[in-house]
Amino acid sequence: MTEIDRVGVVGAGLMGAGIAEVCARAGKDVIAVESSDAAAEAGLKRLTTSLQRAESRGKIDSAADVLTRIRVSTDLDDLADRQLVVEAIVEEEHAKTDLFARLDKIVTAPDAILASNTSSIPIMKLGVVTQRPTNVIGIHFFNPVPVLSLVELVPSLLTSEETHERARAFVQDDLGKRAIDCQDRAGFVVNALLIPFILSAIRMMESGFATAEDIDQGLVLGAAHPQGPLALADLIGLDTTKAIAESLYDEFKEQLYAPPPLLIRMVEAGLLGRKTGRGFYTYG
Ligand SMILES: NC(=O)c1ccc[n+]([C@@H]2O[C@H](COP(=O)([O-])OP(=O)(O)OC[C@H]3O[C@@H](n4cnc5c(N)ncnc54)[C@H](O)[C@@H]3O)[C@@H](O)[C@H]2O)c1
Repeated sequence: MTEIDRVGVVGAGLMGAGIAEVCARAGKDVIAVESSDAAAEAGLKRLTTSLQRAESRGKIDSAADVLTRIRVSTDLDDLADRQLVVEAIVEEEHAKTDLFARLDKIVTAPDAILASNTSSIPIMKLGVVTQRPTNVIGIHFFNPVPVLSLVELVPSLLTSEETHERARAFVQDDLGKRAIDCQDRAGFVVNALLIPFILSAIRMMESGFATAEDIDQGLVLGAAHPQGPLALADLIGLDTTKAIAESLYDEFKEQLYAPPPLLIRMVEAGLLGRKTGRGFYTYG
């Protein structure tokens, strides 16, 4: 176990609640900060429901016991004594740089790690708004956080080797997850490979080359994928898929990352996949 006992999480949405949960399950004292009372209440409900599910499945002994280690607050100043803070707020650059500048002033320990769960914003942009860019790193979890074991560690050019190794030890030794390293580039490893694959499937369907069902069946039965690329896009959300594609395209300016017109039209139409009941397939 590392010396990191006190963890802060900013944002208790889909990812932040999951990150708070895995940290508390690992015995850490966790404070999660939300932007409003209503969001804090929703975050706590999300955490409670997830922990109760874990208890009913025998994954943890007691949800109530884990919950005693989590406090949800709306005051960022509560994070002053944290040794590690993981930011998981909206994917907006300005919101994140503003938050990192504030955290830099609030978190007192000079060696505290300020981490981001961002999927696409360069870690460098978050590091340079603080007085301690050596302590800023990307710790990118996967959804659902309590289930998926992968974490991508993303040091910027200014992140110290010590911060990188402390983050690795926290993720692997304390949380029991598997860390892979990657450079501070849009998409990191997983999305930089997964998104162009999904975009290729959309282009294939759009051109009339094959149907959605046949494309997905092809990859499931012919390449042993657990689900096809179009079903996966519906699960991720077509708006999220498009947003990640755009950040990859902005970074590399390569055609394979450009969102195809069909994806853009579907997002404009509000056909976002599972969450709206219709994407490449119809749900519910
Ligand atoms: N959804 C995914 O599959 C996924 C996977 C990996 C990484 N991420 C990244 O994780 C981050 C969060 O994504 P999410 O899916 O959990 O989003 P979400 O919308 O579910 O949650 C974001 C939360 O942040 C809160 N928030 C916004 N601004 C805040 C502020 N200034 N202070 C405190 N709280 C604030 C919101 O109230 C909301 O509850 C994003 O950077 C996203 O790119 C998402």
